[in-house]
Amino acid sequence: MKIQETKSRNIWRRLSLLFLKVGNLFNKKTTTPKQIEEDREAIIAEGIKSLWTRGYVVIPSTPEIEKVVDQLDRLTAQWFAQPLEHKLQYVFSEQTGGYEPPRPKDDASSNDTHKETFTIVNTYDWLEFIENKAAHKIKQSQLDFDLMVAIYHYIDLMEERVSIFAKIIARASDMPEVYDEIMNNYYRTSYRALGYSATKEFILNNGHNDRGTGTAISRESVQGHQNSFTTKDRAAGTWRDIKFERGKIVMFPGLVCQKITKCRIKSLPHRVVTTPESQEKGRDSGALFLDTSFTTKKLEKGSGSKIFPHFSNFNFDPDNPEHVAEFDTYFEQQKF
Ligand SMILES: [Fe+2]
Repeated sequence: MKIQETKSRNIWRRLSLLFLKVGNLFNKKTTTPKQIEEDREAIIAEGIKSLWTRGYVVIPSTPEIEKVVDQLDRLTAQWFAQPLEHKLQYVFSEQTGGYEPPRPKDDASSNDTHKETFTIVNTYDWLEFIENKAAHKIKQSQLDFDLMVAIYHYIDLMEERVSIFAKIIARASDMPEVYDEIMNNYYRTSYRALGYSATKEFILNNGHNDRGTGTAISRESVQGHQNSFTTKDRAAGTWRDIKFERGKIVMFPGLVCQKITKCRIKSLPHRVVTTPESQEKGRDSGALFLDTSFTTKKLEKGSGSKIFPHFSNFNFDPDNPEHVAEFDTYFEQQKF
């Protein structure tokens, strides 16, 4: 009896995802293909300029994506506000993502003691996971399910925006084949919702480069993201703010992107700092990590990880000979 209930609930969940997808098809028909193509070309041209001058691109969102981003804002805040006991049911696992609670004070940097995340690894069927977990007495709430559906919906809608990013990388590097490399791996995306609690402590997320082909961020509740892109900035230790705006998606290349473009496109060193606003209100964000889950797996032999690589984000400066040697050796050793 119990199994039947789970099954029928699951059918409704899958149907609701299907309705979302069908709804999107209708939405897309409101603009003509020619107009879409012209818009894309203008965004790509602008993106290439931005990539060369700032190291990242800002791509306009769509009304459909904005709707889901609003949902994610609301659902993520509600989800993190639940009792710890409930959230711990989804405790972090390398293979599936899931919940990672704030760490105890003596076990981590001050950064990690205020931070909690919920990650969906797109290669893993979370709805299936939930179904199995139900058999293991997970008390799944409607909120849990709604958040997961919203994340899957977001990943689905973002594919088209990511294809613009891939086009920018392919054209800027003059390597058309890189477009397919990025897009063929889109299913290996993961989405991470992140919550920092309000704290008077000053927290600096140290400068680093993300490891995948790229990172896309639509949601930052407060500013605090910075990058150091130009040779001059890096030499002087200058960090510049990346401004997040509603309706705009910030996307920047990671280390694998740098590798597959033979260093023609540099990964972007970045960090996050606390501001008076984030100390007051805390900080929520949502990031889509492109292909951090499999290409890089080839690079981290022996780590024991099935999906998530242990190839950590590291502080990489393409102008520092030591770092360049580290980068080259790393990729050589792993037989990319
Ligand atoms: Fe990062």
